[in-house]
Amino acid sequence: MNYQNILVTRDKSITLITINRPKKLNALNKDTIAELHEAFDDANLDKNCRVIILTGSGEKAFVAGADISEFADFDTSQGSDLASKGQALLFDFIANLETPVIAAVNGFALGGGLELAMASHFRIASENAKMGLPEVSLGVIPGYGGTQRLPQLIGKGKAMELIMTAGMMGAEEAKNWGLVNYVVTAEELLPLCYKIAGKISRNSSTAIAAAIRSINANFDQTKNGFETEINEFGKCFGTDDFNEGTTAFLEKRKPEFQ
Ligand code: COA
Repeated sequence: MNYQNILVTRDKSITLITINRPKKLNALNKDTIAELHEAFDDANLDKNCRVIILTGSGEKAFVAGADISEFADFDTSQGSDLASKGQALLFDFIANLETPVIAAVNGFALGGGLELAMASHFRIASENAKMGLPEVSLGVIPGYGGTQRLPQLIGKGKAMELIMTAGMMGAEEAKNWGLVNYVVTAEELLPLCYKIAGKISRNSSTAIAAAIRSINANFDQTKNGFETEINEFGKCFGTDDFNEGTTAFLEKRKPEFQ
């Protein structure tokens, strides 16, 4: 696929998607969102892809937000359209993807950039990362799930403070609040993501997809998380991966999941 705003590479079972507008600090314009949707969809449908890593190009930014120049003159209906289409196409799409997504936060992750990192299944940051939802400084609020996912990750009080002050959290502070799992140097960021992705890819991808659905149900008010877990648990018993995983254990060998 020929993309203008992103780069996609695959190394064995791991797909790396890099947002590639460094001169604009990788700000998310409409075309980039559409390309990201397509790249995530393709990777998810590719049976050989087991983990997706998402990062930004350049040394400065993961993503510095939605592209402000695209919506500065929007009216109310265009505003709500922007948020609902963006959430469906990219942010909720990633959060509900069956393939695990790791955000490698390599610099500024602001506004839509932090929302993109939060829609990913978990986050690893470089020491220079700075995260925040500064939308109220522009007279608007986060519209790509930020008011929902930030309190889920760091708690209501701290999320209120970060959003109201339009402030930024450094990487260590973000780790202390549970927003990112690890903080490493810029050079160590992708190697650590690949290392963790490698561990994930040795496990059953059908079971991992079931775990994602089950964990996500905890944050979906239309679902009963415990019931979802029971259903997903039961469905695992009918899979080839369950057969292989349990057989391999009993035969004292490593499983080979397809
Ligand atoms: N939308 C559109 N363009 C953006 C952008 C965004 N969210 N963030 C950065 N850019 C562009 C700048 O306009 C600039 O473009 P130019 O060189 O053509 O003028 C380029 O990226 C570099 O940004 P600049 O502001 O010069 O870099 P900086 O190091 O001085 O500041 C930031 C970095 C991240 C603090 C600053 O760019 C910023 O505040 N960005 C907006 C963050 C934001 O509010 N995001 C939420 C959007 S809803």
